[in-house]
Amino acid sequence: MTELKDMNQQEFEEIAADARNRYEELVQRDLQLDLTRGKPSAEQLSFADELLALPGKGEYRTADGVDVRNYGGLNGIVDIREIYAELLGLDLAQVCAGDSSSLNIAFDIMSWTYTFGNCDSPRPWSQEEKLRWICIVPGYDRHFSITEHFGFEMVTVPMLDNGPDMDAIRELVKDPSVKGLWAVPVFSNPTGVTFSEDVCRELAEMDTAAPDFRIMWDNAYAVHVFDEFPENYNVLEMAKKAGHPNRFWYLTSTSKVTFAGSGVAIFASSSANLEWYASHAGIRGIGPNKVNQLAHARYFGSAEGVREVMRQHASSLAPKFHSVLEILESRLGGLGIASWTSPKGGYFISLDVVDGTASRVVELAKEAGIKLTAAGSTFPLKQDPNDRNLRLAPSMPPLNEVEVAMDGVATCVLLAAVEKLAN
Ligand SMILES: Cc1ncc(COP(=O)(O)O)c(C=O)c1O
Repeated sequence: MTELKDMNQQEFEEIAADARNRYEELVQRDLQLDLTRGKPSAEQLSFADELLALPGKGEYRTADGVDVRNYGGLNGIVDIREIYAELLGLDLAQVCAGDSSSLNIAFDIMSWTYTFGNCDSPRPWSQEEKLRWICIVPGYDRHFSITEHFGFEMVTVPMLDNGPDMDAIRELVKDPSVKGLWAVPVFSNPTGVTFSEDVCRELAEMDTAAPDFRIMWDNAYAVHVFDEFPENYNVLEMAKKAGHPNRFWYLTSTSKVTFAGSGVAIFASSSANLEWYASHAGIRGIGPNKVNQLAHARYFGSAEGVREVMRQHASSLAPKFHSVLEILESRLGGLGIASWTSPKGGYFISLDVVDGTASRVVELAKEAGIKLTAAGSTFPLKQDPNDRNLRLAPSMPPLNEVEVAMDGVATCVLLAAVEKLAN
């Protein structure tokens, strides 16, 4: 197929007229569709309904005899810690279980380091003259909002096929004001990229000028597969061997395994980091919601039990992702106006359109009743320097709506490209 930019006048006019016609028809359909929300669908949430009746009347003791109804147990109960330690391939002693949100933990540890410093800080980050943070792009908007909130200058590094551009990272960390980076190592948001073992090791081994440098290792999609489970590398061990035991703050949660926002968050790290964490968490409160942790442990039963739940999720998510990719290929393939990722898990597809048209695509879609995540959202300060990237989230609507919405999005991408190239 000839690419749009190489078409002769007549071919271009034909495709432009087709795009305009399709768009007019689309607007007339008066749709109300939404591809913005990276949330589980109602069908997925129902998989865990059993959880609502757990741990059950009279069931309140952990495997080691703790009464979950009472205060205490800052690090969480052993039953759920064991399951997640096995699932992630980490040492039990390094794994804590908290309340429902890993983002809350990320915010807390950032905030405590800003106020008090972490266990390797010469001074609190608030007292540093300048604070810089590495943001892999495209990335997760809520990560960027946290570092923006604390006044970091956010420096971007591109995501490549096997993880971030490590040459760029190695160069940046020579600057002592660069204090850390955000990473979603498995089925990254929004590209779906999984970091290779080499990238994990390089992140663990690299020298950094800041002694208190930290990697916020947000493994939110550790087991969120469509088919085969990925390897979750033990970066805590890699960092320890490399002489940087405190480098990683490792996070995950059951938000997209059981109930989003009502699950259990996991924090794992070195013993020094965990001591530092407890020294602040123990002031903030008396302990996490252990009843919910026991309910989750009983619901899963084992690490394999978690995998079993994720296979159910795959049965709902995989057909939606498959359909998005099929529509993108059939409507836009070969035209040279869009490229997209084909994730094997996670919640998102990253779509790059003709430079300077991402916001136009969102605007066209909105006028046709299809909500897309705002252009720029995948970059710090919501500014995509090329106005190119869009995040597609097919999990929430039913399959037939995903299909209609994506066909509409393809029309908008085409029309925006035609408008741009005609100028
Ligand atoms: C990369 C990433 N981290 C964290 C979260 C939210 O996690 P939690 O519900 O545990 O706060 C999300 C949700 O979309 C996410 O995509």
